[in-house]
Amino acid sequence: MQNPKDGFPMEFVHAARSLGRYRNTEQEAYLLSRILPLASHSKILDICCGFGRLSGKMYSLGYDVTGIDISAVQLSMARSENQGPRYLAMDMRAPPLEKFDALLSMFTSFGYFADPADDIHMLKTWASRLRPDGILVMELADMECARTKLPALDTSFVRHTLDVEEHCQMDWKRGIFKVAYRQGDTEFTCWTRLYEKEKLRDFLLHAGFREVQLFGDLALNNKNPESNLVIVATK
Ligand SMILES: C[S@@+](CC[C@H](N)C(=O)[O-])C[C@H]1O[C@@H](n2cnc3c(N)ncnc32)[C@H](O)[C@@H]1O
Repeated sequence: MQNPKDGFPMEFVHAARSLGRYRNTEQEAYLLSRILPLASHSKILDICCGFGRLSGKMYSLGYDVTGIDISAVQLSMARSENQGPRYLAMDMRAPPLEKFDALLSMFTSFGYFADPADDIHMLKTWASRLRPDGILVMELADMECARTKLPALDTSFVRHTLDVEEHCQMDWKRGIFKVAYRQGDTEFTCWTRLYEKEKLRDFLLHAGFREVQLFGDLALNNKNPESNLVIVATK
């Protein structure tokens, strides 16, 4: 398992866009603004901000936004297409040494490291960048939704959507989901370690969050087995 050290290339953005993954950006930002009242949680760090689709929208809603990502090409797109936020080239394991009112980790931007200890230790670092009563919002795929949505026995399969082929492989034993996105003559492979929601809650409590709530979407509906996980963790 090894994601590119220089982050995700533009091929990922093109594939995700064709797959409709950015369709609800406006709505997601609106729902985030309900979870994070502007009056009390205006200073936001968007961790793994990509090309700044949510950073830019939160900025237009009045938030003071910093976006970090390790991909130079994503940040360059963010600076030209989603202006306003401060964008910094940084590894998610070492965010800026400042206190924020809120942290965002959106679109399954967690579980990328070869050593799971890196994922887990990082949560402590994130907690240290929040002021007391600060809030971390995470939105990600989890093991429960993988069990519900992916074929139980086949570890390899291909999904076709418009011009995108997703060559998927699930390693059930290690909980690692690998997707090779093929579009035209380009290809990008991404590995993600998926976690059980209860484990993530325990890791977050251990990392210094005092309250960890689990939901099924940003409107804070209950989680269904097939839905992604939304975590609202308060320090
Ligand atoms: C699935 S994308 C999500 C982007 C954004 N959060 C969104 O909702 O559109 C994951 C992002 O994480 C970035 N990334 C991967 N590894 C990283 C790391 N170690 N530190 C910071 N960013 C990283 C990638 O470059 C990519 O932009």
